[in-house]
Amino acid sequence: MAGLDWTYGVSTLRQWESADYEPSLPVSEKSNPLTCDIDRASAYSIVKMLQVCDSQMFQKEAGMTYQRLLSDQVVKTLMEVAKRVEVIIKDPQESCVVMSGCGTSGRLAFLISSGSNKALSQLNQSEVYSYIIAGGDRALLSSQEAPEDDPRLGVLSLKKVCEGKKRVLFIGISCGLSAPFVAGQLDFCLQHPEVYTPVLVGFNPAHQARDEPIQDCTFTFHSVVQRMQELAKSQKAFLINPAVGPEAISGSSRMKGGSATKILLEVAFSAAHAATSSNTPITHNGVLQHMMAYERTLAVTYSQTDGITTLVEAAGESLRCSRHVYYLGWGSLALLGLIDASECRPTFGADYEDVRGFIRGGYRELNNNDGPLTSLGPKFSIAHEDFLHLILPCLTDKDTVLLIYTHSDDATEVGNMARRVREKTPNLHAVYHQADGDTAASLQQDDIKKLCLSTLKITWPQEALVSGTLQHMRELSTKLVLNAVSTGAHVLKGKIYQNHMIDLQVTNTKLYRRATRLLQKLSACPEEKCEEALLKAIYRVDMLTLEMTSSDITTHTCFARNSTKVVPLALVILLTGWSLVEAESHLKQQPIVREAVAQWMW
Ligand code: F6P
Repeated sequence: MAGLDWTYGVSTLRQWESADYEPSLPVSEKSNPLTCDIDRASAYSIVKMLQVCDSQMFQKEAGMTYQRLLSDQVVKTLMEVAKRVEVIIKDPQESCVVMSGCGTSGRLAFLISSGSNKALSQLNQSEVYSYIIAGGDRALLSSQEAPEDDPRLGVLSLKKVCEGKKRVLFIGISCGLSAPFVAGQLDFCLQHPEVYTPVLVGFNPAHQARDEPIQDCTFTFHSVVQRMQELAKSQKAFLINPAVGPEAISGSSRMKGGSATKILLEVAFSAAHAATSSNTPITHNGVLQHMMAYERTLAVTYSQTDGITTLVEAAGESLRCSRHVYYLGWGSLALLGLIDASECRPTFGADYEDVRGFIRGGYRELNNNDGPLTSLGPKFSIAHEDFLHLILPCLTDKDTVLLIYTHSDDATEVGNMARRVREKTPNLHAVYHQADGDTAASLQQDDIKKLCLSTLKITWPQEALVSGTLQHMRELSTKLVLNAVSTGAHVLKGKIYQNHMIDLQVTNTKLYRRATRLLQKLSACPEEKCEEALLKAIYRVDMLTLEMTSSDITTHTCFARNSTKVVPLALVILLTGWSLVEAESHLKQQPIVREAVAQWMW
């Protein structure tokens, strides 16, 4: 595995697998030993750490504890799922494939369903894929964490999408095997086996599925998984749940969780498409080879560490001086920009203006279920024209602009955009994908390159073109680059403590529990005391009323939607014993949480 020799030995790489490493936490919530000092790292080291973390996705299985991406069982299950998809493609009137998830898992459901439908159209087949995202289409572009807790909402949306269908392959995506929204849908599928075949995609072993009671439900995520395991024996349900190792920023499943979701589902769907178009069987080797092409994508992408570092530094500098980062993209790569930008608010407590994405063609290109969402407010303006009208006039050289495109996009158009931006700021960069030996494109590219401060040129071997996987590879590569840019920039801004996102929003049960755990870890105070401090920070009071302490978590998380800096504030209260007002004022003076905490701890 390329890059693994970078300061880490195998034992550090696999340390998280040891039974006594953070034993009470599922893999998806553990902190990654590789990144425990990411908050003090340089941009270059951050990128290297992300590279090594990403490479953990493809580590080989060792022992019986964890299935991995390339494990035999995972490949076999993908083959079975691909066969079901093949059957559905042959009967598009009566059947469909539905993918569903919350947050990034739902956004990836959208990305994969649009890409896979396009692939079917190119094969002259009818579209069969659809997506559901908790909170509806607005969640594609903004953070909507509360619906994640609502299993009924999950079922309602599933019924709506599947109306009139006789056969449905339902793919529930929950990286942490935890979202009640998805658990509700899987439970519904299990109750209606005559129509629905449930598939679960996630990145914890089954026994680590969340076992917390769900309001007004008789099931937990864990009990649903157990029922699915039973049915999996007769292939009436499927579990695809390899471990990919803890996230670089603890719990940030948008990163490896999102990448692995994309890999697994695209591999299964591509195998089904190939089988449909060539009438050849789906093979173990075919699936395995495709997975390994994704592994090479990591190597191709991270061979550009210096270029990625430049982007991280530029974006970090912009955020540090309270300016902005803009992704201007073309085609599906722009969608990855929109997705990455939308994740910064829930992940880092960022403002929606801090990192924003724009797509050529706006909602026409997005082609989402509900059509244009511009009426919902300024953050839903996503077309390049919106950027030109709303952002360009106020752009300064402290803002970072990233052009994201490929050699197949209209170079004249990219050039025009580059010139417009360049008139306002030299801080313009490009992420450009080209195919090996594409000299015609290189000539036009030269003009654009001259306008940019840096160009990250990713060159794909002809082999990717031939195998038809190029688009998937470019997308994953762009995802890795943008995840590195937004994560790295927020780390440099001081939003991370060790490798925890401390300024997380506490807007659903999972995040509430994560926040309490984090406070326990960082303050060494007992759980009860941490929860009390958390509630004080949520309700902004020094004395909690009986009404507050007796309310359920849903009430707390609803209230927390309008509170900022909840966890940092609670931590300062715990560490110093100060009143809320005192803690708030000190945090204002020292907003970099790492520094603030260090100040009080030592
Ligand atoms: O609750 C918010 C969140 O953590 C998002 O950041 C994430 O994308 C989403 O939940 C989905 O989580 P999971 O895939 O584990 O259900």
